[in-house]
Amino acid sequence: MSDPGHQSRNTIDQIDVDGSTVLVRVDFNVPMQDGRISDDTRILAAIPTIRSILDRGGSVVLMSHLGRPSGKGHEPEFSLEPVAGRLGELLETDVVFPSHDCTDAAARKAVADVASGDVVLLENLRFHPGEKKGDEHFARDLVSDIDAYCNDAFGTAHRADASMVAVPTAMGDRPRVAGRLLERELRYLGDAIAEPATPFTAILGGAKVSDKLKTIRRLAGVVDTLIVGGAMAFTLLKAGGHRTGRSLVEEPMIDEARRMIDELEASSTTLMLPDDFVCGEAPEAGTPVTTCGIDVPDELMGLDIGPDTAARFAEVVRGARTVVWNGPMGLFEVPPFDAGTRAVADALVEATGSGGITIVGGGDTASAIKSLGLGDSVSHVSTGGGASLTMLEGGPMPALDTLDAR
Ligand code: 3PG
Repeated sequence: MSDPGHQSRNTIDQIDVDGSTVLVRVDFNVPMQDGRISDDTRILAAIPTIRSILDRGGSVVLMSHLGRPSGKGHEPEFSLEPVAGRLGELLETDVVFPSHDCTDAAARKAVADVASGDVVLLENLRFHPGEKKGDEHFARDLVSDIDAYCNDAFGTAHRADASMVAVPTAMGDRPRVAGRLLERELRYLGDAIAEPATPFTAILGGAKVSDKLKTIRRLAGVVDTLIVGGAMAFTLLKAGGHRTGRSLVEEPMIDEARRMIDELEASSTTLMLPDDFVCGEAPEAGTPVTTCGIDVPDELMGLDIGPDTAARFAEVVRGARTVVWNGPMGLFEVPPFDAGTRAVADALVEATGSGGITIVGGGDTASAIKSLGLGDSVSHVSTGGGASLTMLEGGPMPALDTLDAR
């Protein structure tokens, strides 16, 4: 696979930040439940960059989005205020949260007044219409009184929002660098995939083939084995003439799936599909469970890969030297339909233990591996869902091109 060329960017550790105010774009788009943060992984992931600046005498102004507000001003359910609280606990310092608007007079004053060691978190960028529009005036407001820009928001790197592109552009001659998280993500998802140790195996799962079409095309001829599980396997199996019962199938994708199978067969990549399933009557806890072969009975739906498939997939994963995984093998949130995902996760851990590079894409797969308690047992769990998929597809990452080249 060709080098996406995103890795050779200057990093926060290469610039002198003593006495400087660094504007850091982080991805604090964390899941919230009843006003509380239900998973603080993305906040924790930003700490190394923040500490690197504070420890060297700099001050930090953080900016992020949270969710998808309307862009017409403050909406309490999308406020970053709870994040400021959690960040303060993790850093053991007060985090200044100046106002309900990221560029109003109070926010500007907080930025102008920062002293060495201070941390400011601006309110949700997407409350302002300029963020999604990539607005230059909005960007200029954000960079006044700023000495250096640091992008550590890998999860948003596939977006051209103002804070990702217009803001670094508005910095002019001032430094624009990658943060430690961004650097790490690019190293794993870029370098490891551009020059993989072989055998190289990709595992794709999740509900929809349409979400992963570009990724499959990009990986054909690059990976030695492409394993497909999750509901998306049913679209491929139906395209191959199999019965899928009441399983989730993307009917409009059947012809495309057929073409994709032909392309894979013509390439050097071996496609592995499930050939047995754990089935139920409905995708819910307590549904009667049976195991079937490759053809799913009409009245049932396949909700996880079956035990034979799990063993076949696990054997290939165990023997791989590079593994990229994006998408669960079944309905892992609802036991017993988590067994296939667990078997693949265990094999990934074994591959890591024997020196393999194992990379887990964000979103559902990251939640799955964390809920299994295995997040620390693989080489890298990405903080990016859409961004890690875009990276795998070789899709555009406009924010990365705005950073200073090494
Ligand atoms: C994500 O969670 O994928 C990122 O924070 C990007 O969010 P978005 O899809 O709303 O742009």
